[in-house]
Amino acid sequence: MEERIVTNIELDEDKEKSIRPTSLDDYIGQKEIKENLRIFIKSSIMRSESLDHILLYGPPGLGKTTLAYIIANELGSNIKTASGPSIEKAGDLAAILSTLEEGDVLFIDEIHRIPRYIEEILYPAMEDYSLDIIVGSEGSSRNIKINLPHFTLVGATTRAGDLSSPLRDRFGIISKLNYYTEEELYKIVKRTSRVLNTPITDDAARELARRSRGTPRIANRLFKRIRDFALVEGDGIIDENILTLALGKLKVDKLGLDETDYNLLLAIIEKFNGGPVGLEAIASSIGEEASTIEDVYEPYLLQQGYLKRTARGRIVTDQTYEYLGIDKK
Ligand SMILES: Nc1ncnc2c1ncn2[C@@H]1O[C@H](COP(=O)(O)OP(=O)(O)OP(=O)(O)O)[C@@H](O)[C@H]1O
Ligand SMILES: [Mg+2]
Repeated sequence: MEERIVTNIELDEDKEKSIRPTSLDDYIGQKEIKENLRIFIKSSIMRSESLDHILLYGPPGLGKTTLAYIIANELGSNIKTASGPSIEKAGDLAAILSTLEEGDVLFIDEIHRIPRYIEEILYPAMEDYSLDIIVGSEGSSRNIKINLPHFTLVGATTRAGDLSSPLRDRFGIISKLNYYTEEELYKIVKRTSRVLNTPITDDAARELARRSRGTPRIANRLFKRIRDFALVEGDGIIDENILTLALGKLKVDKLGLDETDYNLLLAIIEKFNGGPVGLEAIASSIGEEASTIEDVYEPYLLQQGYLKRTARGRIVTDQTYEYLGIDKK
């Protein structure tokens, strides 16, 4: 009995992992980035040299981490990972760099959050594969230079603008991930349906694609919640009825906007007369972090034309009034 439970858990974890594509062929969308990466990876293999450092940027959930793992996989290299906020001291970064082996991929997530003075250690590491560190105590300290193996740094950030220009300039390849089209998200939903062994009708898959804010992570997250409704309230198959029921309960509207999006747009209209209004004022009026609004909510609303940034602050558009069915004063 116990054994069976253990086996089931393992199976679930395996499935969880396999939602993440592991090769460029399996990675849906982002066509330009994929085509270019294919060439760069192939060329580096032909030259037997390490691939140039790569910066991936774009809104959360579009597949930066996934792509970093795929790059390592396609190179046949090992990947070591770190994240900006976890690098607090110069020694933290030196420790990570000193574990690298020839050809490794070093993935640093949220790379914009490495403190500036620590970042400087990365410059010679990226440029000359050397680690310059100061050893000894004050008075008797000296610089030593350690040669590092050739490695590829893959940096990911939701905020390319927050990266210092010396750091940005040291990446040979800079790629911006874009929101996915409905067709691409449809394919991702179908793929997730196969991996999770949960059938979804074509109509329901299209509808889910439309309501996922151009974002694979959201498509997958909603998929799992709708699956719960399909299992408990239906026959395990996701069709349009189950989807409508589930997304209604989850308060995801026909565009994929959720409660926070509504609160945000309504606050600008009702409390600030449509704007312009500063980010901090919006944030405190709806009780969200300014950075969450800026990184998570705003990009999609901007892209879809429901929000605009002006020099004096954020404004909503005529389209917003129309969509929400509110008359403009
Ligand atoms: N191109 C793709 N094809 C299929 N699935 C994808 C694709 N991109 C992302 N996904 C799925 O979406 C999920 C989120 O992707 P990922 O974690 O790589 O996003 P991210 O850009 O690193 O987000 P964050 O900025 O929050 O770190 C993954 O678990 C993966 O399953
Ligand atoms: Mg990530």
